[in-house]
Amino acid sequence: MKGRVFSGARPTGKQHIGNYLGAIQSYVKLQQDYDCIYCIVDIHALTTLEDTHLLKENTREMMLDWLAAGLDPEKSILFIQSHVPEVMELHTLLSMVTPLGWLLRVATFKEKVKLQPHNVNYGLVGYPVLMTADIVLYKADTIPVGEDQLPHLEMARDIVRRFTYLFGEVFPEPKAKLTTFPMVIGLDGERKMSKSCDNDVELAASPEETTQRIRTAFTDPARQYRNDPGHPEVCNIYSLHHFYNPDRLDEIATQCRGAAIGCVDCKNILAEGVNRDLAPFRERRAEIAQRPGYVDEVFADGARRAHVIAKETIKEVKEKMGLP
Ligand code: TYM
Repeated sequence: MKGRVFSGARPTGKQHIGNYLGAIQSYVKLQQDYDCIYCIVDIHALTTLEDTHLLKENTREMMLDWLAAGLDPEKSILFIQSHVPEVMELHTLLSMVTPLGWLLRVATFKEKVKLQPHNVNYGLVGYPVLMTADIVLYKADTIPVGEDQLPHLEMARDIVRRFTYLFGEVFPEPKAKLTTFPMVIGLDGERKMSKSCDNDVELAASPEETTQRIRTAFTDPARQYRNDPGHPEVCNIYSLHHFYNPDRLDEIATQCRGAAIGCVDCKNILAEGVNRDLAPFRERRAEIAQRPGYVDEVFADGARRAHVIAKETIKEVKEKMGLP
């Protein structure tokens, strides 16, 4: 029997190359060998969003990127978290078996408290419980994620073990499967590439925008002047060449070390690589965006199929927990 994959991503709108290399690319490949379920987690987004007016549009833009990148609604279930409300029911039930101390110790919770001290909401504490509910509602065993999600996956395993100990076996223990590039660094050369850090390169941007954007990137800080020798091993632009110019790595490293090319040249080579790689994606995206009602149909069909599984699991959980 095929294993079952589940993964989720917050509706951050148009996706960037970090999302693609760090997640979407792996989601697409896994469709060959697993039953796959991919979810846009709009409820999770509410833990950090105070202004939700872009949520709908961002969800649609994100699905366009997923579809253009090769997620196939014929092969996978693609849906929006809130369209299958059983996840909220399961979240509440799992919250009863999750010690508060576990949740208060999660590193991402502590980070969020620092980032949004004015909005330390209850949902933020329960974030990993909702994530566990996502996974186990569909009895998924294989969870492709980037490195930043590993603590949440550990928590999911702990919650499942505790549930099994208290009420018996319903859920498989989910295992994280690190994606091919589990940590893509942003254009600031320091932090994870993300929209909120404004250090990203959007997949759907035009070639000109992409080139402009890459020109703003930080490079090797030791290269102050054009003739200074560079150190590719510490330069994030060089690490991005691994993905976009894999055949030219030695040549680019030698030219950088010998100052035969400057950082602007190096960024232009990267931009060319990114634009070349993304050209078919961008064409597909524009084509899918033109099909009237298509994205809504994908969401509706995904929710319908996800719901069939969710209903069965909730029934089983309630029975095991002895709910009358
Ligand atoms: P999110 O929305 O932050 O990111 C979605 C996925 O993309 C990966 N990722 C990256 N990987 C490498 N480099 C980057 N710069 C980069 N940026 C993002 C993330 O690791 C993640 O795999 N809590 C989750 C969403 C979630 C979920 C789930 C995931 C909710 N329920 C159940 C798995 C299973 C999140 O906020 O991901």
